[in-house]
Amino acid sequence: MNKDLEEKAIDLSVISKIISDHQPFSQEEVISSLQEIQDSYGYLPKEAIDELAELTGTPVAKIYGVVTFYSGFFLTPHGKHSIKMCRGTACHVKKAPKILSAISGYLGIKDGETTDDMLFSLESIACLGTCFLSPIMLIGNQYYGKLTPKSAIKILEGIAKEEQDKK
Ligand code: FES
Repeated sequence: MNKDLEEKAIDLSVISKIISDHQPFSQEEVISSLQEIQDSYGYLPKEAIDELAELTGTPVAKIYGVVTFYSGFFLTPHGKHSIKMCRGTACHVKKAPKILSAISGYLGIKDGETTDDMLFSLESIACLGTCFLSPIMLIGNQYYGKLTPKSAIKILEGIAKEEQDKK
């Protein structure tokens, strides 16, 4: 695991701060607390979930139930930019597998993996519900439709360049 993430994962003071912002703590606060915990660590470390459970008296199983229900939560370190490539039928027939393979080759990771620099995570997922834009990928909250392998790589190059310029 990336050392920065590991160090962050053990700084559990973040959790009590988040919980104190959600008082009185009710079951409805679990989702928003988990979102804030993930924003803070980049994913949901097991220690953070245990701490959340202990400090709020919420059963751990209940928290994992929420985490596994929502696709936006990650239990392992995740890249800053989460790429979700649609593998639904409409996208599949418009050559989504070729695009996934091009992205995979460009980033040097397979479906389900994260780049070593923690910049990108890649996963193929079922229909994104925007078939009229197929083939399509979602990066963060941004949809990119009518893709070709070339245009997909260009988008990733643009994001990588933006990140480079921030340094
Ligand atoms: S099949 Fe890809 S958005 Fe529906």
